[in-house]
Order: sequence, then C-alpha cells, then structure tokens
Amino acid sequence: AGFTTLDMTTYQEGVMVTEKWRGKPIFVLKKSAEVMENEKGNPEAEARNIKIGNDNFMVAIGLCTHLGCIPAFRPDENDFLCACHGGMFDASGLVKKVPPPRGFDIPPFKIDGTNLILG
Ligand code: FES
Repeated sequence: AGFTTLDMTTYQEGVMVTEKWRGKPIFVLKKSAEVMENEKGNPEAEARNIKIGNDNFMVAIGLCTHLGCIPAFRPDENDFLCACHGGMFDASGLVKKVPPPRGFDIPPFKIDGTNLILG
C-alpha cells in the first residue's frame, strides 16, 4: 500500500501536473530544453533531475519547505511562487527566493521502464 505509479509518457513539456501520493501533492514537470540548458553546470539542479528515456522531469513534493503552503507554477517564468510569504522555487525545485530554507523535498521513487513508482 502507499505506492503510486505515474506513466511518464503522459506528460507534456512545460505543463506542470499535480499528482497525489499519500495525501500529499506531487509536482510533476517535464522540463523543456530551455530549463535543461539553465541547469547545465549546476550540480545541485542536475542531481535532482529524473531522466526517463529522452525526457527529463522534476518530481517533487508540492509543499513549500517554509511553512507548507502549496506554491503555484508560473509557466511563463518556469518557476513556482508561494503566495504565503513570497518564496520562490525554480523549475529544478531549488530555492529561487527565500524564506524557504531548502528546495522542494523529493519523494522516494523507483523507475520501471517509463513508469515512476512513488513510495
Ligand atoms: Fe511558502 Fe512561507 S510557506 S514562503
């Protein structure tokens, strides 16, 4: 119990989808070439990237690491804005603007073909 399987072939580039896992929102973002270019040379961002086939994803628990609000994705900016205290996260899930103390938390997962299994 507690596992959630995501079919990663169903996501569209640049469209952030909120899934659910154990009652928590899970942000899934298929990254654009532009986002991948921005991550280059940033080991912290690259380490968080989830590669499935030729596609690259951010998968993260969609709760602000400050006080737990749910940030909103801004497709034009490729980032997340937390309305509670103005915290921001980039498309890799890293902090772009404080007060969040760290990037989005990443749920435990396994990759099985083109599926991502959370839990
Ligand atoms: Fe997100 Fe405070 S809860 S900035």
